[in-house]
Amino acid sequence: MIKNIIKNLKPSSTLLMNEESKKLEKEGKQIFKFGFGQSPFQIPEDMVNELKKNSHQNKYLPMQGLPELRDAVALYTSNKKGNNYKADNVIIGPGSKELMFLLHILFDGDVILPAPSWVSYAPQAIIGRNKVHWIETKRENNWFPTGEEIEKVISKNKNKNYLLFLNSPNNPSGQICENLDEIATVANKNNLIILSDEIYSELSFNTGFKSISNFCPEKTIISTGLSKWCGAGGWRLGYFIIPDSLKEIKNKLKVLASETFSSVSAPIQYAAISAYQNDHSSYIRNSSNILKNVGEYVYENLKSNNVIISKPKGGFYLMPEFVNKNFSTSSEMCKTILKDTGVALLPGSDFGCSEKKMLARLSFTDFDGSSFMNDIKKNKNIDLNSINNFAPKIIEGTKKLREWSESA
Ligand SMILES: Cc1ncc(COP(=O)(O)O)c(C=O)c1O
Repeated sequence: MIKNIIKNLKPSSTLLMNEESKKLEKEGKQIFKFGFGQSPFQIPEDMVNELKKNSHQNKYLPMQGLPELRDAVALYTSNKKGNNYKADNVIIGPGSKELMFLLHILFDGDVILPAPSWVSYAPQAIIGRNKVHWIETKRENNWFPTGEEIEKVISKNKNKNYLLFLNSPNNPSGQICENLDEIATVANKNNLIILSDEIYSELSFNTGFKSISNFCPEKTIISTGLSKWCGAGGWRLGYFIIPDSLKEIKNKLKVLASETFSSVSAPIQYAAISAYQNDHSSYIRNSSNILKNVGEYVYENLKSNNVIISKPKGGFYLMPEFVNKNFSTSSEMCKTILKDTGVALLPGSDFGCSEKKMLARLSFTDFDGSSFMNDIKKNKNIDLNSINNFAPKIIEGTKKLREWSESA
């Protein structure tokens, strides 16, 4: 009684790793939760207060989202990117993931996914019955597809529509896309639009983050939301910014929204106005600074002749390759690492990488972000001492992983 297309979808090993970790924890083993990627920080207080103030909001809101929130988002994004977005370019959803899902449902064409890329893009494309073309990216290309690689896919049938998913800063590689101009050139020459997944963009470790929307705004849908930068994943609020040139997509997304979730929870939408109207720059600066230092600690202490890693540039993740290990699959390797060391990682194969490559995603968020944040507000600088005090599991887990990588 279940459609074949759904029957063939398997639960991602994120869930399996979580279950296995919980089982081991119950047995008394210490687990280093480097598998799950969730913000370690508290939601800013002004936003929490706004949510309390708005708990009485009980009406369904417009299907595109609360106009005042869309205004605030459009202004915030326009100031940041130098583009001129209006409230009408914004659509609010219960997390950006749901909006992406609806985009897959309405899109008529083929989907181009870089490998590695986020776990949900491919299953969503399959449910939307869109053909997926994987581009296997390379470390030397910063784990992003080159213009030439994208053009090679498109050149097989130039009459089709193509939708490329581009996620920068990237989950799982932790890298920032630097070849935006050549990707934009390919988009401008072809029937290619881009879903620019910028959910980690506020957490770039260096200033001056550039999005593909700076290079081809009329071909780019920006996707982002509250989940990563302000620790509000559970609030379930994300949004798309869709340029006028793609307004047909926005109009049909509205229809799909009205036929599915109707509108995002009213108190959350009212509270989210403060996320974009109030000044959170020091909160964002402090969170990025902590993540940068913790990420670089893991990078510096794990990299070796046995473990190749690119230095993380933003977000929560890095992607080590255990070049001296030889398991039948990266999933087998992660299961063994968990059993031997208590460190939970996710296999690269979950992200579209060949299962024969001993790649894993490591999330460096297993620490108490609020105490770390309070300390940095007082002391300003972060050193080994602060990482020791506020992120001891990061230090210990990294050490265990390093020892494991050196073992025979
Ligand atoms: C790359 C990427 N995109 C999108 C999402 C989904 O975010 P949201 O909470 O807005 O649905 C996640 C969350 O894990 C993610 O890692």
